[in-house]
Amino acid sequence: MAKLTVSDLDVKGKKVLMRVDFNVPIKDGVIGNDNRIVAALPTIKYVIENGGKAILLSHLGRVKKEEDKPGLSMRPVAERLSNLLNKPVTFVPTTEGKQLEDAIDGLNDGDVLVMENTRYEDVKDGEYVKRESGNDPELGKYWASLGDVFVNDAFGTAHRSHASNVGIASNMAQTAAGFLMEKEITFIGGAVDNPEHPFVAILGGAKVSDKIGVIDNLLAKADKILIGGGMTYTFYAAKGMKIGNSLVEKDKIDLAKEILDKAGDKLVLPSDSVVAEKFDNDAAHKTVEGDIPDGYMALDIGPKSVAEFEDVLKDAKTVVWNGPMGVFEMSNYAEGTLEIGKFLGTLKDAKTIVGGGDSTAAVQQLGVADQFSHISTGGGASLEYLEGKTLPGIAAISDK
Ligand code: 3PG
Repeated sequence: MAKLTVSDLDVKGKKVLMRVDFNVPIKDGVIGNDNRIVAALPTIKYVIENGGKAILLSHLGRVKKEEDKPGLSMRPVAERLSNLLNKPVTFVPTTEGKQLEDAIDGLNDGDVLVMENTRYEDVKDGEYVKRESGNDPELGKYWASLGDVFVNDAFGTAHRSHASNVGIASNMAQTAAGFLMEKEITFIGGAVDNPEHPFVAILGGAKVSDKIGVIDNLLAKADKILIGGGMTYTFYAAKGMKIGNSLVEKDKIDLAKEILDKAGDKLVLPSDSVVAEKFDNDAAHKTVEGDIPDGYMALDIGPKSVAEFEDVLKDAKTVVWNGPMGVFEMSNYAEGTLEIGKFLGTLKDAKTIVGGGDSTAAVQQLGVADQFSHISTGGGASLEYLEGKTLPGIAAISDK
């Protein structure tokens, strides 16, 4: 059933609590990548342009001890948001109490307030009490009491059942999805539940164990699953092929055999690999077909595999891509990932969806992000969604 969205709410004059995922990479107060802030702007703008008072809550990093707090303050995030919105944003350096309540009472229609990192609540008086990430019922109730309506736009956090998403929702009459949340549900949920065929999934990354849930779920739904990245060689080992010094999860070889048996020709492995003598961009390297020779490790898919994958992808109507094809942060082993990214950008009749940090980074590095139908802001959340799991943050949003 469709979810209630922010455009279904009357926000005029209302205190609009908004859970956003502003968990951005940050080092010494400097934000590395503000994609997640930019992705939340449409909902924030909608609320303030329609006369609401936007009160934003987000976590940042993982707070496990008092010393974690200063480096994980939301202050730089509030400043970046102010720049992006081109208007002042009130930052409140606390997560509860009079200072916060007074600041909220002082908001005018169209104002924006960012409160301190919700995970500061995980540590009280030096103790790791997990009030936020343990979904303390009193905390969710308190935060809910600060607003009139609740909008959840934090897709990246949807796989967590925390006080600031599920806890607040359970204390509000209604919870609406923000536009980002709605888009993630439409694209990823749509691909998983109701894909247009042919539906092709491209799964990469180092470990079979990280992707087993996704492979299992998508085997029942996709027409083809293309495998790349380090996990390829656990599958090679399962087929009795030679893998040289390539990455392998020995305890997952039996599981990989089961998957291969179940999948038949639905699962496509790379037929060639770029192999190197060492895990080093400058190591001697070459392309080989099939078995990986002794003394070499496979670090990327080869050009023949790229061509074979493109042949499968060219007729696809839905494509989901999660995980790089090789060690793409090293230029000599980046080709497979970059070629696939470039090719997907040319598919005009397909819904192309990218999830996961590394494949997203590849698409951005290539400058083809705007040629994709959807680039997910979720890491763990998009993986669990692709696994077919119910995400508590989404389940807590009201139906329309
Ligand atoms: C993420 O970056 O995947 C989300 O913001 C969730 O963060 P977490 O894994 O620390 O809960």
